[in-house]
Amino acid sequence: MYILGIETSCDETAASVVKFETTGPVTVLSSIISSQIEIHQKYGGVVPEIAAREHVLNILPVINEALKVAKVSHKQLTAIGITKGPGLITSLIAGIETARTLAYAWNKPLIEVNHIAGHIYANFIDQKEDIKFPSVILTVSGGHTTLLKMSQTGNIKILGETRDDAAGEAYDKAAKMMNLGYPGGPIISQHAELYKKKASDHKIELPRPMLNSPDLDFSFSGLKTALLYQLKQDKSWKKHINQYCYEFQQAIIDTLIAKTIKAGKQLKAKTIMLTGGVSANTQLRQQMLNAVKKNLSETTFLVPDKKYTTDNAAMIAAAAVYLYRRGKTINFRRLKVDASLQLK
Ligand code: KG4
Ligand code: ZN
Repeated sequence: MYILGIETSCDETAASVVKFETTGPVTVLSSIISSQIEIHQKYGGVVPEIAAREHVLNILPVINEALKVAKVSHKQLTAIGITKGPGLITSLIAGIETARTLAYAWNKPLIEVNHIAGHIYANFIDQKEDIKFPSVILTVSGGHTTLLKMSQTGNIKILGETRDDAAGEAYDKAAKMMNLGYPGGPIISQHAELYKKKASDHKIELPRPMLNSPDLDFSFSGLKTALLYQLKQDKSWKKHINQYCYEFQQAIIDTLIAKTIKAGKQLKAKTIMLTGGVSANTQLRQQMLNAVKKNLSETTFLVPDKKYTTDNAAMIAAAAVYLYRRGKTINFRRLKVDASLQLK
């Protein structure tokens, strides 16, 4: 069977075809992403109206390309999986209206996919072995920083989340403060990699907000403000840009790891999963793996292939496969935007 996945929740227009059977692994046959990053870069962030217009222009060519690369005709599709939210409302509508029209024209069922659930199921792509539960999942992206518990596929509960900025958002805002451009995550991490610790280090101290709080929540806006004040006081900050990026990134990584390990211990997790755009970060991937090995030696650590960490449609199609197996298809008339965090 084949599912076409469509994703347009932010500034990536994406389509993917995956192959699957009643049980067993999900294989990606194509994953096409048309990124609008260059268009939004000059504004320092995503402009919703421009994003929506770009989706409308790109969506059909991207879907055609996904079918062509997969060598699958639309007639062979079992269903269409579509991101229903959360995300930018005008961007979501572009994908949703396209999916609705194609479902009608091609007479196919639709599967609504929550965007966060999509990020989670990126870990299920090409998985030959069954994932063991309970799992603790850290979804860390531009819009979300959420710790979740999955007790079986389809059963996801929120354990904790950010009380203000998402981690990716903090990266993006910090990069803006340091005039580094958009999106901030990849740029800050590149600068951080260039930093070498020396004995005569310039002094930079950044807080780890809520590191020891009793809950499983996060907060990143205080960290961002602390960075702003240090930059204002430091006339030579440009000379120390790599160190600032390193310290800022490490403050984020430390809190993400501490809360994830804490949740893993509390729930006696058999699997820890990392997902979302920020999970493309090499240091976060490496340090989380080391922390799981050290603190939860019996627990498996999973993180998606880097190409499935930032927004893509293969993760949406993969999530749709698991929903399809549980009979969760709908008629095109019932499809609508849903920004709630109802994870399935
Ligand atoms: O999942 P995603 O593509 O979109 C949302 O659902 O939000 O995540 C985008 C976020 C951006 O904030 C971007 O700065 C961050 O992921 N990001 C990274 C890296 N690559 C992307 N953050 C840290 N390190 C990276 N290598
Ligand atoms: Zn995302």
